[in-house]
Amino acid sequence: MVLNYLSEYKKKTKRSAKLFTKSKKLHINGVSHNIRFFEPYPFVVKKSSGKNLIDVDDNKYTDYWMGHWSLILGHGPKNVKESLKKQIEKSWMYGTVNEQTILLSELISKAVPVAEKIRYVTSGTEATMYAIRLARSVTGKKIIAKIDGGWHGYTSDLLKSVNWPFSESESSGVVNEEKIISIPYNNLEKSISILKKHAKNLAGVIIEPVLGGGGCIPATPEYLKGIQEFIHKNKSLFILDEIVTGFRFRFGCLYPTMKLNPDIVTLGKIVGGGMAIGVICGKKEIMKFADTTGKKKSERSYIGGGTFSANPASMTAGFATLNELKTKKSAYTKINNLGEFTRKELSKSFDGKVAITGKGSLFMTHFLNNGITEIRNATDAAKCDNLQLAKYHFKMTAHDGIFFLPGKLGAISNMHTKADIKKMITASENI
Ligand SMILES: Cc1ncc(COP(=O)(O)O)c(C=O)c1O
Repeated sequence: MVLNYLSEYKKKTKRSAKLFTKSKKLHINGVSHNIRFFEPYPFVVKKSSGKNLIDVDDNKYTDYWMGHWSLILGHGPKNVKESLKKQIEKSWMYGTVNEQTILLSELISKAVPVAEKIRYVTSGTEATMYAIRLARSVTGKKIIAKIDGGWHGYTSDLLKSVNWPFSESESSGVVNEEKIISIPYNNLEKSISILKKHAKNLAGVIIEPVLGGGGCIPATPEYLKGIQEFIHKNKSLFILDEIVTGFRFRFGCLYPTMKLNPDIVTLGKIVGGGMAIGVICGKKEIMKFADTTGKKKSERSYIGGGTFSANPASMTAGFATLNELKTKKSAYTKINNLGEFTRKELSKSFDGKVAITGKGSLFMTHFLNNGITEIRNATDAAKCDNLQLAKYHFKMTAHDGIFFLPGKLGAISNMHTKADIKKMITASENI
């Protein structure tokens, strides 16, 4: 870490430092999600608005982390806030069937063809956990394939091959790891040869159409089509994890643009409008396995829900967000164009020694290293100079009032302007 940025950061975040010392006494690593910690300590946020985070020392940051990329309309957009206020007046937790859920599901099911039936949970982690349980129930098989570098949340089953070199266990306490196999992204030949070895007991594959945590890398349509073809021929299930990509690039999912035909799609983040959510969407013929009426325990897949599932606050925020996106489709044109501009301009920075990956309003900088010239998968991304990336992001936080979670991809919201992007690019030229 460049020393003068470290002292600049410490000087302006004194109250954060004090509070974080307290937080460390109370919480593991001082945080409630491992990725939220960064050296020397993360600033403590007191409020957010539009494109900005404001910390307890009154520093303002233009935010590109945007609530784990969930806030496509920015922090506290007016219509979502108004809808939530009205809902809070009525109450925020019923624990019963409510109309808000039906309203949100009507929007999702019209926009996402596979969502013939929907089940809500309160995180993406739960959604992927249930999606693979369902796949195992439907097929009667046990093995799930995932991608090297694929992140689907902390669910024990999928906590495998997340971090390069992908061969080490990600955590103690995880069992039955042999039931999860891992395939290399965008390498169809190698992936198929691995899948073939497990074909007999393969329940399904789970893939992000844009590898998020693994480096913001779009899958090639040929790769996804090839995997889907093998999976369907094998009578296994094709699960797309669109928790990041759903409603991010267009009103709906990414998969129809690639003419894919998934059996199950998971959603989260944007569709909760900044409130806790996870969604399992599936075709009727798949979701009927989760129907508990008149089925023996051995036949049914017991999935989802939970105390806070489909709570009226999440449903209301999700509906207000999707409704705004539906009526203002120009928002997608705006943020997708800003993303394209960002990737083009950022790639000229750093004397061309970077690759900028992403799609639409998502982008990530990779400092090319170790002979890597192109980023096709999580291995390429991991071999880049990620220390340099963390330094670059920290410099912008400390010096320029621009926040990326160090090392993570950036998300542009409808609150960002071209002037914000230009400021970020200028800040990138001066590291
Ligand atoms: C693709 C993907 N799937 C699942 C998850 C887990 O979602 P959550 O953090 O809501 O549990 C994430 C979180 O970042 C994700 O990026």
